[in-house]
Amino acid sequence: MNGPKKRIAILISGRGSNMKSLIEAARRPDFPAEIAVVISNRPEAAGIAWAKDQGIPTLAMDHKHYSDRAHFESQLQSILSASRIDLVCLAGFMRMLTPAFVESWRGRMLNIHPSLLPAFKGLDTHERALAAGVKFTGCTVHLVTPEMDEGPILGQAVVPVLTSDSPDSLAARVLAAEHRLYPGILELFAAGLITINGHKSSSASDVNGLSPQFSPQV
Ligand code: GRF
Repeated sequence: MNGPKKRIAILISGRGSNMKSLIEAARRPDFPAEIAVVISNRPEAAGIAWAKDQGIPTLAMDHKHYSDRAHFESQLQSILSASRIDLVCLAGFMRMLTPAFVESWRGRMLNIHPSLLPAFKGLDTHERALAAGVKFTGCTVHLVTPEMDEGPILGQAVVPVLTSDSPDSLAARVLAAEHRLYPGILELFAAGLITINGHKSSSASDVNGLSPQFSPQV
């Protein structure tokens, strides 16, 4: 590992299973990042209780208590700055962030999306993948830019779609892939092993056994 560990803030709104996979991965002494804080915009989010139990600093910032987005985000910026955050990982964070906020974190904010972008941006990805009849879908970790689900793709995992799939069964298969992809890509990115060239990223295809692309077995 080169240099100090990157300090990560994870932003969630709910279950937090991706957050859990990042926290568990970051326990490895040689992981190049540490989870400095978990922030939820919903106080009742299950993920926040789990993270707290693990001894991770957590914060519930109920967006309903802020008069507008600007106040919510200025408070969020203060917390991120006070926590000396290097990278923000969105993990099921369901609150729209303003272009100004996103710009201030350009190149330093990651998100996981449950489809193979640029296919199926937005919500209800599994329903739409089934309706489209695709034979493969998957998940994508990308950098966040002001245009939704548009930023440079850092890594993807491919998941087969089965004839018998319902949206729920497909979501479960994709989620299992998400839990492998996100920690792997965070590891590569935090270690400085992914380079961004305009809208594209590049990395060695296999660094320390990690790859920006994989296809788990069914
Ligand atoms: C995941 O499917 C992720 O891809 C999407 O929101 C969901 C969050 O799930 N952005 P969880 O809260 O991490 O379990």
